[in-house]
Amino acid sequence: MSKGRKARDVFGSKFGIIAAAAGSAIGLGNIWKFPYITGEYGGAAFLFVYLGFIAAVGLPVMLSEFVIGRKARRNAYGSFKKLAPKSLWQNVGFLGVLAAFLILSFYGVVAGWSLKYVFFSINNTLAASSPSEIEATFNRFITSPGPPLLYQLIFMVLTGLIVVIGVKKGIERYAKILMPILLVIIIILDIRAITLPGSMEGLKFLFKPDFSKLSWDAILNALGHAFFSLSLGMGTLITYGSYIDKKNNLMNTALEVTIADTVIALLAGIAIIPAVFAFNIEPGTGPGLVFITLPNVFNQMHGGQFFSILFFLLLSVAALTSSISILEVVVAFFTEELNLTRPIATVLATILAALMGIICSLSMGIYSDYTFMCFNFFDLLDFISANILLPLGGLFIAIFIGWKFGKYKVFKEMAHGGSLKGYFLSAFMILVRFVAPISIFIVFLFGLYEKLHGCLF
Ligand code: PFF
Repeated sequence: MSKGRKARDVFGSKFGIIAAAAGSAIGLGNIWKFPYITGEYGGAAFLFVYLGFIAAVGLPVMLSEFVIGRKARRNAYGSFKKLAPKSLWQNVGFLGVLAAFLILSFYGVVAGWSLKYVFFSINNTLAASSPSEIEATFNRFITSPGPPLLYQLIFMVLTGLIVVIGVKKGIERYAKILMPILLVIIIILDIRAITLPGSMEGLKFLFKPDFSKLSWDAILNALGHAFFSLSLGMGTLITYGSYIDKKNNLMNTALEVTIADTVIALLAGIAIIPAVFAFNIEPGTGPGLVFITLPNVFNQMHGGQFFSILFFLLLSVAALTSSISILEVVVAFFTEELNLTRPIATVLATILAALMGIICSLSMGIYSDYTFMCFNFFDLLDFISANILLPLGGLFIAIFIGWKFGKYKVFKEMAHGGSLKGYFLSAFMILVRFVAPISIFIVFLFGLYEKLHGCLF
């Protein structure tokens, strides 16, 4: 038995599990990515499809990951190796480790932007700026070769340090206190955003669907984002599940994490999209949307500077509780499968992801001419990881639990001493056996075709 396996931690409390899993789920995906892709793909129709995927695909896959992790008590790769020895299943875990690398690379870049905005806020740099000046400042910053790399590096070092300390101490303590404060700030931002003149149009855009404009590309993005936002499809929650004790009711935990994640995304959308309309910003602006919109909102608030500092600080912390969970996937793999020590595994993984992140960051500026298909390097990593690798991982995880693992064992792991009703279990089985795999397959087929076709011709 390897050292990593013996030293395996267990979460201290039920709240600790939820805080850590929600800490992983809630991050840049909710506050940075969700508003901008909702803006890009047309608003309400995209939102409703996204919510449908969260309920019908995300939640069952999350439960499946918890079941696999808790049963096997290993990292993603090792879990499949243990539960289905000498089979191809362990490659699912391997796909997950790959996805973790890709995500961590661009995640560190955006988290670096957030850190920079803490300093912009402290120095009040954007306070007297018009919407177009704010946009110009943001673009100047992300396209410059030096400063974004510095902030990305600071963020990656922080991530690595926390992972070296260990899962329990590192994650639980921070997530418990800070996430509720972030929630309060977002609610304050919501109130400000929807009381801005012209914000009604934004609320309509966000909640009044026009399904006729929905493309397969949008549907693929909604699916991919459901996985990305809930931290699914790459074994993060298999790894976290392996730290959950036997007494925990996995169904409740999954439900609570899913609801928390979705509520935060919706609240972030309500803070940003109405303001986008109020300030005449293009909803399809892309990855800069949050960073261009929110400073305008802060400029219209009493105590705007204070809220701005706190918001970007806590956004960085939310990013950190997610990035440590991403790095944890790779580190658990390195320690338990390759027998590296935890510090060495962490340093190695952090350096590799940071190096790839540098290329991502530069692809916003000096490397922006290098594109592959329709993507620069940053968008390419995002697309491959969120829209391909995560749903693919989710597809295999659902099939594994639905068809391979054994119904009896699934029930035993989930039933929580008989407190979970039989019809919940049956509904879960239908979702993992049929609904999740078939919908992922269909969306892949049409979504990827449309995307590739659109890019090539
Ligand atoms: N769920 C995180 C977010 O929304 O920011 C990102 C993420 C974390 C994706 C962990 C995947 C993952 F395994």
